[in-house]
Formats: sequence, structure tokens, C-alpha cells
Amino acid sequence: MSDVVKQKGVKVIRKKGEPTRRILIDKGILNPSAKIFSDGCFLYLPVVRQPDDCELSEIKQISDDIIVGDYEFELMEKPPTFDDLLGYVPHYEMVGDIAIIDEDDEFESRKIADVILKLHPNIKTVLGTTAPVGGEYRVRKVKVIKGENRTETIHKEHGCRYAVDIAGAYFTPRLSTERERVLSFIGSGDVVVDMFAGVGPYSILIAKKVDVKKVIAIDKNPSAVRFLRKNIELNSVNNVFAIEGSAGTKAQEFAGTADHVIMNLPHSAEEYLDTAVKITKTGGMIHYYDINPEDDLFKTS
Ligand SMILES: C[S@@+](CC[C@H](N)C(=O)[O-])C[C@H]1O[C@@H](n2cnc3c(N)ncnc32)[C@H](O)[C@@H]1O
Repeated sequence: MSDVVKQKGVKVIRKKGEPTRRILIDKGILNPSAKIFSDGCFLYLPVVRQPDDCELSEIKQISDDIIVGDYEFELMEKPPTFDDLLGYVPHYEMVGDIAIIDEDDEFESRKIADVILKLHPNIKTVLGTTAPVGGEYRVRKVKVIKGENRTETIHKEHGCRYAVDIAGAYFTPRLSTERERVLSFIGSGDVVVDMFAGVGPYSILIAKKVDVKKVIAIDKNPSAVRFLRKNIELNSVNNVFAIEGSAGTKAQEFAGTADHVIMNLPHSAEEYLDTAVKITKTGGMIHYYDINPEDDLFKTS
């Protein structure tokens, strides 16, 4: 049985309940942690405070019989949290309907996976990382801990849909805000070269949101390019051109044409900087990523 508390509420004739509820939500004064109830004729809606005169006159336009008073409301049962079920909040990432955890202990991994599946009904699979992002293709090694036996999913971001295989190509939702930041620099008619495109989250976002001339999306990983091509179709963008191979050679043919070059290959982008400079138009922009200590951002190794 939930707790009952006496608190401020709005009493309104039942048939005027829905428009009153909507106006209280609109004003931000409906209390979401208490339950609305009815005694047959009237509906009682909990509010977080006494509505001011202006709000009250708007509410009274719906029904003159409204009475603000103190009523007994049942409190909503709070959904359980990680803290309640596990005693702490684990680190995890969600890509589409897959959650990825990073926990060495098998038993603990299964416990975390159970709780994730319970708290996120949209998650169908929990993967555990067995080796972090690494190798030339920047892929992480994963295994299924709980749920459906798969590593592929569809991830939605900024109105785009990406088919992703966590075990086959790099993808992280953590760069979502960064992708929007880069997007903000791109203008209509621009030529963009995405040198390390992965499954296409920069390229496709740009092509979908800006009327660019074209986006050249290059990646060396055949699996990433397979998904990139799928994503071009999935998002119905017809000006993204996927190229499989090393950006060092494949980008050369676009010498002097790019308004923007995206170099999302931290740690080794430096090796391709000459190529990037070569393909960038005068006045163009290179979006360069590296990982350096905060107190020495422009460090050269
Ligand atoms: C850090 S991931 C970034 C992928 C994508 N930009 C994203 O945000 O999801 C780097 C990508 O560069 C690709 N890559 C590594 N070396 C490359 C090269 N020489 N030429 C082209 N792609 C390369 C990897 O396969 C990987 O997909």
C-alpha cells in the first residue's frame, strides 16, 4: 500500500478533469509524485503549490466550480534505482537496444546485466567488454552476458538511424554532442571528407541536416563500410559516397576540394595530417582529434 499525504490539490468536476490536468501540466504545477483520484463526481489533481491568481483565473475558465484545497493523495510508488537493486550505479553505455558494460568479474557482470534488463525494458541484450577499443579498426571485443544473442542493433541519434555491429566496427553514442558541434560548422554546398567515417555517424548526420554538395566517407574496416552503406540507405541520403580503404591513399584524389575534413582517429590522425591539408581548400577547416593531457593539449609525441 502506498503512503498517503495531505497536500494541496485542485478539485474539479470530473468531465472537466482532462483539460484541467493539461493546463496544470502546462503551468508546471501538477505534482507528478502523487496520484490523481476521483470520488465519482469530482477529480482531485495534486499540485506542487497554490496556483497564483493569474493561473487560477485561467483554470477557472475551464470550470467555475474549481476548488483549491488540501486533500489526501496517495503517493506514486517510486521505480527502483540501481542503488536500490545493486547498491551502486554501474558504468554502462546504451547503443540502440544493447547495453554494454565493462566489468571483469563474471558474477558481478551477470548481476549488473539483470538489473539493467529490469530497469530498461527497451534493452534486449547486455554485452560485456572483454577488450577495450583497440587495433587498427578501433573495435572493442565483447561477449553476450544476458538477453538476446546478438551484437547488432539500430541506434537512433539526432533524427538519424544507424545500423551498428558492436563487435564489427567502432561506434559510440558518447560523441553525439561532438557530432552536433561539427555539424554546426557545415554550410550549404560544402564538400566534406570524413577520413575515418566508421558506420557514418558524422557523414550521414551532415548529409541529412545540411544541403551539402557531397560527403566522401572513407574507412579501412570492411565491416564498418558495409554498415556505412546500409546506413546511407536507411537514412535515404544520396550524396554520401562510401569508400573502403586507407584514407592516406583514397583521400588523395580529392586534393584541394574539401571545405571540411573530419579526422576522427585519435592517437594516429597525425600520420594523415599531410593528406588532410592537401585535400582541404584554402579557407577550409580540418576537424582534428587527438588525446593529450589537459595541461599539454598540443603535445607532439
Ligand atoms: C575512432 S573510429 C571513428 C569512427 C567514426 N568517425 C565514429 O565517430 O563513429 C576510427 C575509424 O577509423 C578507421 N580507420 C583506421 N585507420 C584508417 C585508415 N588508415 N583509413 C581509413 N580509416 C581508418 C577505423 O576502422 C575506425 O572505423
